[in-house]
Amino acid sequence: MKRFVIYLFASLFLSSVVAFSQDVTIPIETENVSIVLQTDRLNNLRIVHTGKLLKSKTDYSDIFASYNYNSEGASLNNSAFTVAGIINFMEPAIAVVHADKNNSVDLKYVKHSVSSLDGATLTKIELKDPVYPFYVNLFYKAWENEDVIEQWSEIRHTEKGNVILNKFASANLYFYNKDYYLTSYNGAWAKEMMPALTHLQQGMHTIQSRMGTRENLHVSPNFMLSLDGISTENTGSVMIGQLAWNGNFSIQFETDVYRNMHIVAGINPYQSAIELKPNTSFETPRFIYTLSFEGKGKASRNLHDWMRNYQLVDGKGSRLTLLNNWEATYFDFDQDKLVSLFGGAKEIGVDMFLLDDGWFGNKYPRNDDRAGLGDWQVNKKKLPDGIPFLVKKAEEKGVLFGIWVEPEMVNPKSQLYEQKPDWVLRQEKRPEIYFRNQLVLDLTNPEVQDFVFGVIDNLFIENPSLAYIKWDCNAPIHNGHSKYLEKKKIPQSHLYVEYTKGLDNVLQRIREKYPTVPMMLCSGGGGRTDYSLFKYFTEFWLSDNTDPVERIFMQWDYSYHYPAMTMCNHVTSTSDKSLKYKIDVASMGKLGFDIRVDEMSEEDKKFCRKAVNNYDNFKDIVWHGDLYRLVNPHEKDLASLMFVNDEKTRSVMFNYLTNWRYNADTNLRPIKLEGLDPAKNYRVKEINRYNQNDKEGEIYSGDFLMTIGINPHVSVWNPSAVILIEAI
Ligand code: DGJ
Repeated sequence: MKRFVIYLFASLFLSSVVAFSQDVTIPIETENVSIVLQTDRLNNLRIVHTGKLLKSKTDYSDIFASYNYNSEGASLNNSAFTVAGIINFMEPAIAVVHADKNNSVDLKYVKHSVSSLDGATLTKIELKDPVYPFYVNLFYKAWENEDVIEQWSEIRHTEKGNVILNKFASANLYFYNKDYYLTSYNGAWAKEMMPALTHLQQGMHTIQSRMGTRENLHVSPNFMLSLDGISTENTGSVMIGQLAWNGNFSIQFETDVYRNMHIVAGINPYQSAIELKPNTSFETPRFIYTLSFEGKGKASRNLHDWMRNYQLVDGKGSRLTLLNNWEATYFDFDQDKLVSLFGGAKEIGVDMFLLDDGWFGNKYPRNDDRAGLGDWQVNKKKLPDGIPFLVKKAEEKGVLFGIWVEPEMVNPKSQLYEQKPDWVLRQEKRPEIYFRNQLVLDLTNPEVQDFVFGVIDNLFIENPSLAYIKWDCNAPIHNGHSKYLEKKKIPQSHLYVEYTKGLDNVLQRIREKYPTVPMMLCSGGGGRTDYSLFKYFTEFWLSDNTDPVERIFMQWDYSYHYPAMTMCNHVTSTSDKSLKYKIDVASMGKLGFDIRVDEMSEEDKKFCRKAVNNYDNFKDIVWHGDLYRLVNPHEKDLASLMFVNDEKTRSVMFNYLTNWRYNADTNLRPIKLEGLDPAKNYRVKEINRYNQNDKEGEIYSGDFLMTIGINPHVSVWNPSAVILIEAI
């Protein structure tokens, strides 16, 4: 009885605290989505709706009462930016120690403004601590047509000394859905982007990285959250997003006692307390996501469109097909061998030759991964006439020339390490720890930033027609300690954040001087793929695992988050699958090769030429069209997907067997197509047939293709089929 009285008293107290007068209502809207924020009587800003757009804005003020939220006793669980040390018990978005050492923070609504940008609306909401001169601005950039929202915060104060930020999230969200399935991605080298589905129960689930540089080697910053039970390609409410930050991230999914979902996303505060000086501000990176109420397919198409329209370098432009020498030669090459490979690139019809690792270092030649990294002078023994000679020879053969670099890193066995030990991140009192025999340079140091910029700049100064850069990054940060920060008396806890900002500075300078050159983002495979870097990069390397069967799964899973034109898929000698199968798999993104063309049979070379020619004919659909996933290889024994152009006049469908066992499920035919115009007639023909001419094709209506479908006849005898579908 006593307990009941206390409970009643507590809930009465809480409901009076949380009662809403709904003074200010702030809708954040796109074409289909709205987030509605509202102040309560005490000027706390609350999230009262996250989901489908309401047709009438006047309905917004009625939302909160409908949830019966107060009787749930949910205090401030739905706060727009959850504070610490005062009232709530949910994971904070912000936690600070003020100049006077007090460690509580509260934030009340002050005012907001809305401005229209090209294609987006930017809402800025100003919050202030009622006791301290401490301010947080929340930003919501809502992209109308793409249903994509970017959220970030800006923190500042005018206190009498530094304020320590122990937690400083970009975004805080709240969903009222009730049944959440999270797809997150685990990984390791050659095993990137392995999906894991978790049915979230009450409590906390965090995806995070502490690796410093190649942040998504073990965990990707990407996720999919199904909000009302498991969503499919075409059904269900789903959020797909990531933190656009090339550094340590933390995305926390906290399911509360009411089965509502509280998300806090931002830089991982691990070892990263920020000392913020008075009158300076700290801007957090963007948490970028979309919501779809028509399943994962629509959500991923939203993100593809957003990336190509607004984020990705040259998102509406073209890309180069290429021949890379990494898996063809590894470090074992010289000038003559390279020149002899250029002809092969021309022969199979690609646009460019890409020279990989191993072209530099003299005192410590880069003949394996143990030496030379950091010494960016051409190796005179291997390449006596230098890079300009190679560029010239490639161009004479009719192909462009691109080059690999890894400028953020150093081998201890290098002249750079000998001459500039203070440029290296390490703990002087502790033994060095190597990852792939290398260490990370201190990009917090402006001199190191100049050096890294110089590596790229010098290459272009020496070789103005250099066509492409592959930018690698193999080591995470061990023993994170910066001599530069130490000298400047900046706390070491700023290292991870300042490293990321330092890299961003360098990339910004490179893009200011060389705005259009294509650059591949590579990180010992696919360890770096956050959206912030696509302001500088045109494409990325998914993984060093180039087995085509593995690649089908990986490319499938990456495709929820990145458009196909960003995905570098190379045909290599790995695996015993046929050349046709490998090329068909690589063609569902940005096609490249990593093979010895000079060792191929005439038949294979002829097939390569034909397949590259076909690719040149349909690549525009893959790069700029809409992706529809038709049969999921995680669920069935084959993968099937298609791309359709905007006009719905051209489409290409890829089909791959993924299980060679006798009992493989081949009874999935026909496969229904999507995204076509039911009223149009289409010629449907299989292309990329090995050693056989392409057939004339059959004609079907779009209605037939989407209602009945087609049978790609994939089997152990014909494990892949590429089908071109063109309106007549
Ligand atoms: C790792 C990359 O993922 C590979 O493609 C290759 O460039 C090597 N590094 C070179 O060292």
